[in-house]
Amino acid sequence: MSDRTRSLLFQPWSHGTLRLRNRVVMAPMTRRKAAPDGILTDAIVAYYERRAQNDVGLIVSEGISVDSLHAYDTLTVPRLETPGQVEGWRRVVDAVHAAGGAFAPQLWHTGRLAANPIGPSAATMPPRPDGTARPEVRAMEPDDFRQVLEAYRLSARNAIEIGSDALEIHGAHGYLLDSFLSPVNNRRTDEHGGSPENRMRFPLEVVRAIRTEVGPDFPILYRFSQWKVDDYREIKFRGPDELERWVVALREAGVDILHVSTRDLLDPAFETSPDSLAAWSRRLSGLPVVGVGKVSLFRGMDESPPPPEQAVADPEPILAMVEDGEIDLVAVGRALIANPDWVPLVRSGRWRDLVPYSRELLTELR
Ligand SMILES: Cc1cc2nc3c(=O)[nH]c(=O)nc-3n(C[C@H](O)[C@H](O)[C@H](O)COP(=O)(O)O)c2cc1C
Repeated sequence: MSDRTRSLLFQPWSHGTLRLRNRVVMAPMTRRKAAPDGILTDAIVAYYERRAQNDVGLIVSEGISVDSLHAYDTLTVPRLETPGQVEGWRRVVDAVHAAGGAFAPQLWHTGRLAANPIGPSAATMPPRPDGTARPEVRAMEPDDFRQVLEAYRLSARNAIEIGSDALEIHGAHGYLLDSFLSPVNNRRTDEHGGSPENRMRFPLEVVRAIRTEVGPDFPILYRFSQWKVDDYREIKFRGPDELERWVVALREAGVDILHVSTRDLLDPAFETSPDSLAAWSRRLSGLPVVGVGKVSLFRGMDESPPPPEQAVADPEPILAMVEDGEIDLVAVGRALIANPDWVPLVRSGRWRDLVPYSRELLTELR
């Protein structure tokens, strides 16, 4: 097993004011372990601190609900509104900085999938996986647009207040912002629906509102995806032209870094070439990109558990994507839940010692 210390993945990286000791990003992962008032516990602070102490370059937080009105799906998802909530995240930032890492909160509005759901259009949602009914989705009205923009602005101000190095807008996976892009979920006939320009309008309004709030130099990441949690096969960008329109619009609205959420980073985005959605997004926008999806994990076609001897995978093909300049940063999700020490293990070539991920690991914060 070869030592990867010299690999570009483990070299420092900077973009504008953002300076990272290496190119490994902790992917945002909801853990639903805050107190019901949205305040962080000591265990959550220690969970992020442990990844920073183990050399993760940039920690993106679990999704943080931007308000307690419509944004959340469960009240144990943390928030960043009240003094107590802000104080909790300040402790995380201080701990991450003390360990040499950088931190970005992920701002999340669950939209159609919220406990009190709103979306671009009214909808009846299928039951939850446990069979319980979901409430009807209410179509957003002018007051809702104003309220949601203000919630994002407040969270962005508080992201700065706690000393974050950047912030990430969760625009992926079928939640509020993503649902505006989807012609299936967005059937509006006003300026926020219909043409691709109209469907992009609200997510871009959120980006511009946050950019105005944080000033010109504070780094903004935007996470987007083709897929959504209730339809892994959804396609929003049918080819490079449609993707280009979107990523260029994000850049022009003030996004600095694209976080391209794919379920498998090595999957080709379009039939015409083997390139990933992340590589395409980088080339078409000229912006740096974070790639994500099954890094060091079994690459099966479905979600059935892998045979034990294949549970962890050599991350070499991903390291090569960084070396080849296809992507800039690599986000690691489930493998970092199972292995707080993912960076030292992979950097020293000991990827075979990685603990396989399993859902049982989600019950505790370790
Ligand atoms: C338990 C869990 C919670 C997640 N929560 C979020 C989230 O809050 N925000 C988000 O953008 N993605 C979320 N994701 C998706 C991950 O960020 C990541 O994109 C996905 O797990 C693929 O990366 P991986 O194969 O390395 O795990 C979550 C994934 C998992 C497994």
